[in-house]
Amino acid sequence: MRCGTAFGGHMKRKIKNNVSWVGYIDWELKTFHGDDFSIMHGSSQNAYLIEEEKTVLIDTVWAPHRFEFVENLKKEIPLDKIDFVIANHGEIDHSGALTALLAEIPDVPLYCTANAVKSLEGQYGKRGWNFKVVKTGDSVDIGNGKKLIFIEMPMMHWPDSMATYMTGDNILFSNDAFGQHFAVEELFNDKADQCLLYKEAMKYYANILNPFSMMVGKKLPEIAAMNLPIDMIAPSHGVIWRENPLQIVNKYAEWCAAYKEDQVTVIYDTMWDGTAAIAHEIAREINRQSPDTVVKVLNIAKTDKNEIMTEVFKSKAIAVGSPTAENNILSTVAGWLTFLKALRFKNKKAAAFGCYGWSGEGVGILKNLLKDAGFTVIDEEVKSLWNPDDDDFRKVPALISSLLK
Ligand code: FEO
Repeated sequence: MRCGTAFGGHMKRKIKNNVSWVGYIDWELKTFHGDDFSIMHGSSQNAYLIEEEKTVLIDTVWAPHRFEFVENLKKEIPLDKIDFVIANHGEIDHSGALTALLAEIPDVPLYCTANAVKSLEGQYGKRGWNFKVVKTGDSVDIGNGKKLIFIEMPMMHWPDSMATYMTGDNILFSNDAFGQHFAVEELFNDKADQCLLYKEAMKYYANILNPFSMMVGKKLPEIAAMNLPIDMIAPSHGVIWRENPLQIVNKYAEWCAAYKEDQVTVIYDTMWDGTAAIAHEIAREINRQSPDTVVKVLNIAKTDKNEIMTEVFKSKAIAVGSPTAENNILSTVAGWLTFLKALRFKNKKAAAFGCYGWSGEGVGILKNLLKDAGFTVIDEEVKSLWNPDDDDFRKVPALISSLLK
């Protein structure tokens, strides 16, 4: 864990009128959620300060940066000038500085959902914080004719999650929704490398939000029905969407509806390269039968697991291979399949393949685990005794034909 310069090297930065970013950009972060989410291009924890007639802080930063966060906030405003704090979500990457902040201003009203009271007290203990529980549609005046409207966002991605909408400036502070683990020093979407931005936004959705796609699919029309003009979406990670902000909302509408592209991903591990040989023959056969289909071949042991999940997210079908080892499948594949099940992909097909030397349970175990993970598993398989030979490879066209059907 690394403690760097407060605000990631910056003081507050205006994003619109009287609204500033006061977060933390971490270019050196390598993993998140412990080591469960890989970070390839840095990340940020975005907090925001509103200075209207009322002064409002929306979210804070991760606990390792809490003292620097508070010290730097003091350089911008006397802390007792803060009229209230909003905790859109209780997870430690956004609530981590509350303990240090509220030690200095213990009576400040803290607006959050009822579930956030549970998650905050569950993590930090009962500290007598001045909670103000809010529900969708509740609002608070901040002066100058503006107000903040709260929108509960349960399971996007915790039960306690909510968004806060600021009238007048038409900013949706969406917390984790619409975020990316992506460091962009210039803060805004139009300044970012667009290819990387969408790669990271999709990886974030596939690995964090996909299990809750049904809730995303219900929440988006609900927000639209509130008829709130949105000029800017300010999430708690990555870029602030100011240029065509609804582009990411439209992407979420696509992504939450059992998203797939014309892609098949072959995912495997191998002991002595027999299962690898089948994997590559499967890839070649996909290309023979469907030359326009994108094919990816990924060795689980050598590829970042979150990147593999993004490829699964894009795929209409996957083929998963493991040799039989100790009457089972390789531990790399078994662990990955546990993660696959957790992400609750829908409307995708799957096939299984692998080599064996004597007992040969591997392919059957793979099929059961893939079914259990919600995939439509085809009957065809390639199960090769010792190393695959021509007879085994002759089974590949039928497997691909069924997988592409
Ligand atoms: Fe970025 Fe769920 O915290």
